[in-house]
This record gives sequence, C-alpha cells and structure tokens, in this order.
Amino acid sequence: MTEEVDTGRRHFLTVATVAAGAVGAAFVAVPFLASWKPSARAKAMGAPVELDIGKLEPGAMVKVEWRGKAIFVVHRTPDMLAKLPAMGSSLRDPDSNESEQPEFAKNEARALKPEYLVLVGVCTHLGCAPLEKFTPGDVTVAADWQGGFFCPCHGSKFDLSGRVFKDVPAPTNLPVPPYQFVSDTRILIGADKGNA
Ligand code: FES
Repeated sequence: MTEEVDTGRRHFLTVATVAAGAVGAAFVAVPFLASWKPSARAKAMGAPVELDIGKLEPGAMVKVEWRGKAIFVVHRTPDMLAKLPAMGSSLRDPDSNESEQPEFAKNEARALKPEYLVLVGVCTHLGCAPLEKFTPGDVTVAADWQGGFFCPCHGSKFDLSGRVFKDVPAPTNLPVPPYQFVSDTRILIGADKGNA
C-alpha cells in the first residue's frame, strides 16, 4: 500500500515537474519571441537606405522609401538656392526652430550640402503627399509662386527648403530625416553622423 502511494506520488511529482517545465519553457519562450520579433522587424523597417544621386540632374527630384515613408531628394540649382533668402517673411518657421530635423539642417538650405535637399515627403498637416512644384509662376499654386512643394489636400505650401508658408493648414516645415554622405554621390538615409 505504502509502495503504491509512493509510486503514485512519484508519478504525480514527475508529471508535475514535466508540466512545470513545459509551462516554464512557454513563459521563457514567449518573451524571447516577443522581444525578438519586433527587434528583427524594426531592424528591417529602420535600416538605412543608400541612394546614388550621381545622375540626379540639377532641378530634378527622386523619391525613395525609408521606414515606409517617401523621402524626397532634390538636386537644387543655383537659381533655386538663390530664392531662399527672400522667402523668410512669408514663412511660418523660417529658421526651423519648431521643425523636426537633425541639428545639421538648422540653416536656410536645411541640408548638409546646399545643392541637395532631403525631406520626408509627408505633409505635416494630415499626412498627404506634397507635389513638387518647382516652376516659378506655376498658376496651379499661385501667380507669384517661386517654386517649392504644394499639398493638394488642403492647400499647404512649402518653399524650396520644405519650409511651410504662413496661412496654410500645415503647422510645421516638412521634416528632414537623418542622413549622411558616404561619398560625393551617395547618401545614406537613416544614418546621421552630421557630416559630409
Ligand atoms: S494634408 Fe497637406 S494640407 Fe492637409
């Protein structure tokens, strides 16, 4: 009788131990997967994007995707850059004090190299995609238009540095993403060392 009880208890203890082990493994495995999945996904989503801009003509723009967002890269001409100083009084935040951007972009050109503008192409009002409207006098925007970006959703306007105009719904300038030059003709978007 004693032996039967002992055997039964041993069996119960063995089963209980195995069950506890299985439960323990489950508890260990879930946090591991939970922490592993987002980090792997985040890594893929947040990986920097390298772009060759060697063939980007002056005055032209190319779009790439980074972290699911459109990134605009514009090769600005000397004429385009010459328009920037005169825009100040028309802009809500000409010095980009309230705008999302790396420290290196805190200048009129909002860029590491003035001729290359890199922006997040998402309107800061409600997230529409602004259109490139680089032709001065484009009446689809305004008769005195100097060139820049126009959001067709609710009429927000941005200059050739992505700075928002006064009296439009968008509250802040188009963001500048982190980026760096890895050579004279290649930029790495999503990696910010603040150097050229
Ligand atoms: S989303 Fe661009 S103006 Fe409203």
